[in-house]
Amino acid sequence: MNLVSRVISLCAVALAGAGVTVSAAELVIRADKPGAPVQPTMYGLFFEDINYAADGGLYAEMVKNRSFEFPQSLMGWNSFGNVEVLTEGAPFERNPHYVRLSDPGHREKRTGLDNEGYFGVAFRVGEEYRFSVWARTPAGGTSKIRVELIDPASMGETQVMAKADLAVDGKEWRKYTLTLRPSETVAKGRLRIFLDSPEAVDLEHVSLFPADTWKGHENGLRKDLAQKLADIHPGLLRFPGGCIVEGTELPDRYQWKNTVGPVENRPLNRNRWEYTFPHRYFPDYFQSYGLGFYEYFLLAEEIGAAPLPVLNVGLVCQYQNKDPKAHVPVDELQPYIQDALDLVEFANGDTTTVWGALRASMGHPAPFGLRYLAIGNEQWGPEYPERLAPFIEAMRKAYPDIKIVGSSGPGSEGDKFDYLWPEMRRLKADLVDEHFYRPEEWFLSQGARYDNYDRKGPKVFAGEYACHGKGRKWNHFNAALLEAAFMTGLERNADVVHMATYAPLFAHVEGWQWRPDMIWFDNLNSVATASYYVQQLYATHKGTNVLPLTMDKKPVTGAEGQHGLFASAVVDSQAGCYIVKVANTSDTPVPLTLRFDGLKKKSPLTSARVITLSAPDGDLLAENTLAEPSRIVPEEAGLQVSGSTLSTTLPAKTFAVYILR
Ligand code: AHR
Repeated sequence: MNLVSRVISLCAVALAGAGVTVSAAELVIRADKPGAPVQPTMYGLFFEDINYAADGGLYAEMVKNRSFEFPQSLMGWNSFGNVEVLTEGAPFERNPHYVRLSDPGHREKRTGLDNEGYFGVAFRVGEEYRFSVWARTPAGGTSKIRVELIDPASMGETQVMAKADLAVDGKEWRKYTLTLRPSETVAKGRLRIFLDSPEAVDLEHVSLFPADTWKGHENGLRKDLAQKLADIHPGLLRFPGGCIVEGTELPDRYQWKNTVGPVENRPLNRNRWEYTFPHRYFPDYFQSYGLGFYEYFLLAEEIGAAPLPVLNVGLVCQYQNKDPKAHVPVDELQPYIQDALDLVEFANGDTTTVWGALRASMGHPAPFGLRYLAIGNEQWGPEYPERLAPFIEAMRKAYPDIKIVGSSGPGSEGDKFDYLWPEMRRLKADLVDEHFYRPEEWFLSQGARYDNYDRKGPKVFAGEYACHGKGRKWNHFNAALLEAAFMTGLERNADVVHMATYAPLFAHVEGWQWRPDMIWFDNLNSVATASYYVQQLYATHKGTNVLPLTMDKKPVTGAEGQHGLFASAVVDSQAGCYIVKVANTSDTPVPLTLRFDGLKKKSPLTSARVITLSAPDGDLLAENTLAEPSRIVPEEAGLQVSGSTLSTTLPAKTFAVYILR
């Protein structure tokens, strides 16, 4: 057999039509040598509120500035008639502003306000929308408001697509709700509120959600977007970032304690993605924290992913703030360390503990099963290890089972990286987060990146990566193919790589600051990119253990003479199958033989199928868009097997997942 296969691999195959000659490749898989387990956390998700991923995205709230807390209190609102912004007697101390609608002074005049939403308020005919508001009447009687969903651009007789009346009674603040059922689908609508009685009314926390949220949660998530996450079957959910954790200055940093408890009383925070790129500037981008740590933990649980929160280490964003005094002095870190300890209690603590009780009061008495905690995002220099050390010490003492993720800085190599890896080893971090947004050549050259990593040190978390095409910085097929190729190296090294998350995850088509991203959306629809399908193919075919796979006795890493192939193999001992992933990054089809050595039976392979991802009409720069969401989708076909061998041809520029039973 060996001789035959060598003959095959040396044999030149003339390819019909193309007139190209390419030799065959034989991949040998040692079925009898299952190696490292593939961690359940291996393929996961990175979530950050960038590109309107949270407010205006996954978080299904449709009202922007619902608590009137933006620096300009009425940003996002048009007010008309007699509207004041007040704070006296506000119901929520951390969100102290509310509006008072009073009589406009004439029978023919109106008082009210309407909200523009995030790039519009979008609603669909046939769906229900839950409006809610905290309200009171300052004089203590009864006041009426009319709530409408409108299409301001309608050419019809009316702009009003849904309406309902609400009576507000008495001086005490109360929550009122009603349901709106639009008569038409509108992408760029508005929520409009009229005062409909002479008596004034005070309004606070004006909210509008689709009734049909993910899993039906009231403070819920957009169903189509959450479903896309669930469909990946991720093993990990990292949140809430990203640089958003750090803050340009300390008060802007992400503080998880501000994101839990009653949603009405979570204070607003800046979002650095408002101003990071002046060429894509979004003055109305803030964090409402409606999607907070409780919701992240719940989402992780509901999509079957291990939660991986990341916390501020006492450093502000080192890109944005060069002032050494902007960071927390090392001897003043205690409150930050306490936040980390309290987070573990919030996630896992008994309901008799302070933070465990809060979790229970929010609806989840059972622990969330937190096992991993990242401390620091993209940090560098000695400032980082000197701050991380006391966190690790305290965490080990209080919660020795929690695995700590440290950072290797913002780049895939270089001084910062070379300094931090040994530091992470010294501090005995359990995992080290690596980030690489890199061009095509980098991905092509990194197939063997982890082959020689230290097996005794911390494990790797490839925490942010994406192929950023040179001058072609969008979600084209070629980027996804190269990510797939690179990921074979993660998988082959599953003994050292325990987690990997593509980044960023979401982008609103009208509100993005950073691309490429995995899922794009507008207010009504969403689209999975080619990169999404790569992630999904890996996560749903991760197997249980790595199998040795070689070509000419060498790992297949896109090296010289390997036909531009990258490959990895796993066995799935639960599903009872072998899975071989091969990316052909070359311009020519490659005749391919998968040979399984060490199988016990004589004709052991009974069936095979392949799932491929390839460029439509060979267009490597093709992408999936909202208008054409299915240009690049996985396609499945059956294949013939013979004995312990599968012979096939892998088309040029194609990622293939072979599943053999
Ligand atoms: O993913 C976008 C940003 O890239 C993240 O916030 C940061 O960690 C990295 O620089």
